[in-house]
Amino acid sequence: RAVSSMPEPCQSSPLSDDESCDFDWDSLGFGLMPTDYMYIMKCSKDGKFERGQMSRYGNIELSPSAGVLNYGQGLFEGLKAYRKRDGGFRLFRPDQNALRMMTGAERMCMPSPSIEQFVDAVKQITIANRRWVPPLGKGSLYIRPLLIGTGPVLGLAPAPEYTFLIYASPVRNYFKEGSAPLNLYVENEFVRASRGGTGGVKTISNYAPVLKAITRAKSRGFSDVLYLDSVNKRDLEEVSSCNIFLVKGNVISTPATNGTILPGVTRKSIIEIARDRGYEVEERAINMEELFDAHEVFCTGTAVGVAPVGSITCMDRRIEYQTGADTTCQELYSTLVGIQTGTIEDKMGWTVEI
Ligand code: COI
Repeated sequence: RAVSSMPEPCQSSPLSDDESCDFDWDSLGFGLMPTDYMYIMKCSKDGKFERGQMSRYGNIELSPSAGVLNYGQGLFEGLKAYRKRDGGFRLFRPDQNALRMMTGAERMCMPSPSIEQFVDAVKQITIANRRWVPPLGKGSLYIRPLLIGTGPVLGLAPAPEYTFLIYASPVRNYFKEGSAPLNLYVENEFVRASRGGTGGVKTISNYAPVLKAITRAKSRGFSDVLYLDSVNKRDLEEVSSCNIFLVKGNVISTPATNGTILPGVTRKSIIEIARDRGYEVEERAINMEELFDAHEVFCTGTAVGVAPVGSITCMDRRIEYQTGADTTCQELYSTLVGIQTGTIEDKMGWTVEI
């Protein structure tokens, strides 16, 4: 008998008014602040996801032999909802997260919700937790979809049952630096991903292995770690939770998504915005020696946004970069945030209004 089960659906319907939380939004960081509801959709035996339902946010019950607990069969996503000036909410490219989950599910031998099911569930979770969407300019509601093998397995095999679950938390700046420039450390012992592995999909099993490198770098005063390729330890890969870009004059470069790099939705959006604004953007292998010639460096990610890098310590040498108001990073960041929050026209049709 499958013993994984989930909480009973909430009997009361989601909030019926737009009352917002009595909360000091200026103190918001990137810690988990549980909201009212989570969404759960289970996969039936024939590999199809059935109608999902909203439950009160709370613990879930799992078999000790659930595939996700024993063999890490799971994916996660991250996307954000913003409060609109005139009421209502705006999601940024939820279809891209849905698509990435579908690709990742194929790699991890899991069934996946359709794009429509994913986006519909994201809309529902935003509406249900609407009092937790911060006021405009004070942050966003971070939405965390999970796709996990919840059925029991002992021998190494795909789990017999799957659950798609979404919860949400209001967030603001990811790094403790706030919007101040990051100081990165080029890691030359640990690697994040290798060719043929799963670095290019958002599996939960990509994240615990980088904790040791991050913890060590933080204890030495750095913000995060920049990883190198696993074969030659020569080409740039990405930072633990975000992609990296180098700027030299009018040329912006970022590592190509060759299977070891996470295809970030913010990465893709920044590339499209930069090209639209006349920059030349190269997606290619970037030798770490190029860090010494770059004028600016910045990171992109859903959680991180677009974060300027003030310095990178590479082979015991500290390289400093331009940061501040008159930079390419700032220009791209302002454009992206403008589109996400509605102060700049969304001519690409990226945002979904609810
Ligand atoms: C995101 O940017 O949404 C991520 O999933 C990164 C995570 C480590 C916070």
